[in-house]
Amino acid sequence: MNKNLSQTHNSTLLEDVKTLKRMEMSLKKSKELDQTENMDLSAKLFNLAECKDEMWNPEKFSLMYGTWLWDHSTPAQKVKLNQLYWIAYYAQIISAEIATIFFNQTAAAAMYGLEDFKIVCDTLDLESAQERTHINAFKVISEKYEEEVFGERIFTYPMRTPFVKTMLYSDLSKMQEWFRTWQLRTYSVLSSNSAFIGCQYFTVRGLRTLNGKMVQHQLSRYYTEHANKENSPIPSKVSYYHFMDESFHFNTSSVISHEVINSLPAASKFEKMVANMSLEGCQRDHYNFSTAINGIFWYDPALYPLIYKVLRSKIFNMSHLEALEALRKSFCEESEGMIQSHQTHQESIDSYKHYLADFKYINKTNRDMLIMSENKLEKHLKTNRDAFKKFRSKAA
Ligand SMILES: [Fe+2]
Ligand SMILES: [Fe+2]
Repeated sequence: MNKNLSQTHNSTLLEDVKTLKRMEMSLKKSKELDQTENMDLSAKLFNLAECKDEMWNPEKFSLMYGTWLWDHSTPAQKVKLNQLYWIAYYAQIISAEIATIFFNQTAAAAMYGLEDFKIVCDTLDLESAQERTHINAFKVISEKYEEEVFGERIFTYPMRTPFVKTMLYSDLSKMQEWFRTWQLRTYSVLSSNSAFIGCQYFTVRGLRTLNGKMVQHQLSRYYTEHANKENSPIPSKVSYYHFMDESFHFNTSSVISHEVINSLPAASKFEKMVANMSLEGCQRDHYNFSTAINGIFWYDPALYPLIYKVLRSKIFNMSHLEALEALRKSFCEESEGMIQSHQTHQESIDSYKHYLADFKYINKTNRDMLIMSENKLEKHLKTNRDAFKKFRSKAA
């Protein structure tokens, strides 16, 4: 920044040499280790026949793991539940990454309005392009799978814009969903015009990625610990390649939200309020935990119709009444699976608190994760039971 000529702002990222160096090093490394080619090739080569009888994730990352259904499944059914975890998990990641691509760009637009933020914007450009590749690989594999196994969609969905709720199976009512869409639209305008709000988006992205990192690191281990890596299932390889790219994304979120933000002009009261509102929104999105899928904060009752479909499919061949009873025993009784999902939720609360500990603009609701912490195991069970009664009477 030329300080002799008038500029829009006095502050410049160039003065924070340490952060700038970190960003430069990280972008260089991220380009060197970019997994785009591997991801694209995997999507092209995926052939379900070659990996249909093998698990794709470590066993505990299976749909309905540790529930009544899991305990009463045959080994072949367990393999299918394991593969379905992959399909369901990455369906949620696709949704989150569609939003990420967009908000990377709105935030970059705001930061580029200041002097010397080119390195940050270049990093975000690379990440957005990588997300498109990730989405493509997840989508190609998942759609082929559901077409071959079910002949219809279960967890996959047609392409969508970022203005649809990010959490696929939530407890939002139609009215709340509509409101959320408008919040997203407003946030997109604000984040593209305020470098602070744009920068602060990476606090939200950091929390979301932190949760992803915890699970995706474990998913990637199926490949890294596989006895025959070369011939391991393609979806397992994709989990590994994805985790490699995402490690850099998490680092970017952390540097922008913790360090780069210090080179910005001081935030106004309004900007701080918007920042806290977006974190409260994130807490609401992560309020529930799911018995069906450990590590994703879906609302179990919203999954009843999907799991019912899986139970009626040729994988389980259950009758209507058998499927309902399996749902009741799996979602409405405490199980090892439910306890583990709850534990992941607790671990996320703790790591979110740790991530946010040194932010100055954060209110108590966010600092202490008061919204997320309200959900308890007993509350979860009661919600599932009440919702199941309604589901059963509707399905009768
Ligand atoms: Fe990704
Ligand atoms: Fe990412």
